[in-house]
Amino acid sequence: MKNKGIIGSIIALAIVLIGVFAYQMGSRQTNATEDKKELKTVGILQFISHPSLDQIKDGVIEGLKQEGYEDGKNIKIEFLNGQGDQSKLNSMSQQLLDKNSDVLVGVATPAAKALANATSDKPIIMSAISDPIGAGLVKDLKNPGGNITGVNNLTPVDQQLDMAKEMFPEAKTVGMIYSSSEENSKSQIERAEKRATKDGLTVKKYAISSSNDIAQITQQACQETDYLYIPQDNTIASAFQTMISESDKAKKPVFVSVDNMVKEGGIATVGQNQFELGVESGKMAADVLSGKAKPASTPVNVIDYGDMIINEEKAKELGITIPENIKEKAEVVKGE
Ligand code: TRP
Repeated sequence: MKNKGIIGSIIALAIVLIGVFAYQMGSRQTNATEDKKELKTVGILQFISHPSLDQIKDGVIEGLKQEGYEDGKNIKIEFLNGQGDQSKLNSMSQQLLDKNSDVLVGVATPAAKALANATSDKPIIMSAISDPIGAGLVKDLKNPGGNITGVNNLTPVDQQLDMAKEMFPEAKTVGMIYSSSEENSKSQIERAEKRATKDGLTVKKYAISSSNDIAQITQQACQETDYLYIPQDNTIASAFQTMISESDKAKKPVFVSVDNMVKEGGIATVGQNQFELGVESGKMAADVLSGKAKPASTPVNVIDYGDMIINEEKAKELGITIPENIKEKAEVVKGE
């Protein structure tokens, strides 16, 4: 009887121990799956490849890192590039949602718009968007209200045209080339036209419908005008060398709207650092991830300043003398 009692207790103890062990294994496993779930996902959608957007995308990743979020460490970054194709942008937006992105980042207007069409509740950070209101992305810059906020790069158009006026005092006609399908370019051209007209210039506008039009339209614009002015246009930026080779043949300067396009053959700009635009958007995405900020109540970050940059080599090539006071103020770069 006594023995049976002891054996009974041993068996009971063993059962309890096995139970505790099994329970601990089980809970360890649930922790492991929870850890995996806790790795938050950032979905980045870029419209097309060109040097500026590539730099902005790198900046977004750097901005996240500066706020403590690193791919593979404590977040997962899903990056997709639509290569300028609207239907790809739509399906990629859906893919990023299917991957359970906690925050979405749209690099350039068409990408941000595709994301906005795909979801009205997941947070979206706009990265370097020229005209968020005109593109229908937000209603109010100070108080976005919905699921979208981010960085509005308001190109310093007036300073650009003032600089162009100082550089080409004899010019009477300016040719503005832009894509008819890009809202970001249209709104910039509207502002540029106003300023140029106020400055006494005649403005001739040339719309392209794809990069296939660039060579022919550039030739025509060079014949009909004294210099060219190019907005932040994704289609032109992705085939800028085609434009420059035509304008070089005609010996006409191209005044651009982005820092790196001066190095790529433009004559000058008052331009914004593209990488920095990305960093600022990355930081905003981090604030949404950490729960510090919600798009609805986070004002759009409007970046409206830029630095004067001139390409001295291009000026020499085209026989343009850069006024001394501009040289003093500007950063001088060499062409690539
Ligand atoms: N602002 C552009 C848009 O809204 C995107 C952009 C940023 C861009 N930097 C650029 C386009 C430089 C051309 C060149 O879509």
